[in-house]
Amino acid sequence: MPTAVQQLMSSPPVTCATGASLAEATSLMHERQIGSVVVTEGAAVVGILTERDLLRAAAGRADPTGEPVHRWMTARPDVLRSDEEVGAAWSGLTHHHYRHLPVVDGGGVVGVVSLRDLLAVAQIRPAEEAGGALPRGLEGVVVAETSVGDVRGREGFHHYRQYPAVELAARRSLEDVWQLLFDGALPDRTASARFCGEVAAQRELPPGLAALLPSVARLGGPLDALRTGVSLLGAELGWRPSHDIGPDELRAQALRLCAVVPTLLAAAHRLRHGLDPVPPRADLPTAANYLWMLRGEEAPAAHVRAVEQYLVLTIDHGFNASTFTGRVITSTGADLAAAVCGAVGALSGPLHGGAPSRALDMLDAIATPDRAEGWIREAVGRGDRIMGFGHRVYKTDDPRSVFLRGVARSLGGPLVDLAERVEATAVGVLADLKPDRRLYTNVEFFAGVVLGTCGIPRELFTPTFAASRTIGWAAHVMEQAADNRLIRPAARYTGPPPPEAVPPA
Ligand SMILES: CC(C)(COP(=O)(O)OP(=O)(O)OC[C@H]1O[C@@H](n2cnc3c(N)ncnc32)[C@H](O)[C@@H]1OP(=O)(O)O)[C@@H](O)C(=O)NCCC(=O)NCCS
Repeated sequence: MPTAVQQLMSSPPVTCATGASLAEATSLMHERQIGSVVVTEGAAVVGILTERDLLRAAAGRADPTGEPVHRWMTARPDVLRSDEEVGAAWSGLTHHHYRHLPVVDGGGVVGVVSLRDLLAVAQIRPAEEAGGALPRGLEGVVVAETSVGDVRGREGFHHYRQYPAVELAARRSLEDVWQLLFDGALPDRTASARFCGEVAAQRELPPGLAALLPSVARLGGPLDALRTGVSLLGAELGWRPSHDIGPDELRAQALRLCAVVPTLLAAAHRLRHGLDPVPPRADLPTAANYLWMLRGEEAPAAHVRAVEQYLVLTIDHGFNASTFTGRVITSTGADLAAAVCGAVGALSGPLHGGAPSRALDMLDAIATPDRAEGWIREAVGRGDRIMGFGHRVYKTDDPRSVFLRGVARSLGGPLVDLAERVEATAVGVLADLKPDRRLYTNVEFFAGVVLGTCGIPRELFTPTFAASRTIGWAAHVMEQAADNRLIRPAARYTGPPPPEAVPPA
């Protein structure tokens, strides 16, 4: 195993001058398949520009050809010497949450070390993951293998299959990404049109579910209706245990489920508010049809695209609690509806999917930017969580939040201005009050702002999240079923020592 930085650094480093444009730096990164460019003036290192900086620049709507790199780079970055030990690189990167460090020798830059280089070679683990202590909440514990997607928390990177999720959100439709998750590849135009047709043909609620939905919808909230509706769907369509069916049957059920969920949510919402359901339209893509069924009128194109991008960004996100729940249930051989009902239950908790409406409630309570600091200090002082901030995996910017901030800006409006000012204040206050934590906005903060601006009622924020996540859950259910072994971990017993004689009644 390499012991010195020079043994694992990428060398020679890719450099550019301070005056180079973002576009020039981006094409260097693409050409060389690297995640950063060292910015130099003569021989001296003056900065480093990373993919994360490019993402910020894109979110800030910077013109890539006109913007010089020095505006977006991290200036005067920490550097390593090539003879330093790998451990120094590890602590430099992890302590400061950097992802790349230039390596300098004799006054000139000779290489770059990335977190990825370190992880590739290392048996090194963060201290909190080492040793025999059981990580609370299974943090960092690998419990399965998956090719659906992953999250790299320290890098602020999130991908579906091999593609960055934010790029998919920027460039592809929800249905294309759905197909990527179900079948492993992005479709070409013909396959895409065929898949859209297949989805559109399966949106109707089956008659038994449609007949029961008015009672279900009036009994509880939209997530209750979703959970119960999915259970009814599986029962009515006679879904058998995943253990007893083949992959084609399971995929067909998964497609039906994901096509029906938006219809179920929209119909339940309207029924709950005393309105008749609006039937789905086969001529509209999923996001446009969802807004149509909610409102009974076509939504503006900007709203449709913003909601679609939100849906793409939230399809999957590593081994989060609901995905894990769905896989555990599937590992017992239970049917798809059982797995998704369990996953919806896990998602409904405020520490997982239940935060976006709370983030907007917070913005309402704060009302004006000047009240933000006092409000947030008081809330944290009381021990409350600031909703939409912090993440189990991301200890840096959540890439979904960066992207959605850009979407929110493009939609504009007073809510967006207030949200950005509150975000800046909250990040500062949390850094001050919890200096050893890295608390930034998570997906839910700007999700609430985007969905709210697009006219989706708050009570439907988490259900809308569930509509896209159902696609991710289904992909995981299919993956689990295809190569299944019962998930049955162990717990460390900490109660009074047994055996103790049972006292007489
Ligand atoms: C998402 C979340 C559950 C992940 O947290 P986690 O990894 O389990 O972190 P912990 O609960 O162990 O908290 C670690 C510390 O950070 C603090 N913290 C984490 N998120 C915080 C937040 N949003 N506001 C205030 N403090 C927060 C905790 O109070 C704790 O501080 P302490 O050690 O001084 O008590 C957490 O950040 C949270 O509750 N956020 C608010 C809810 C939310 O936005 N949920 C949507 C998630 S996508």
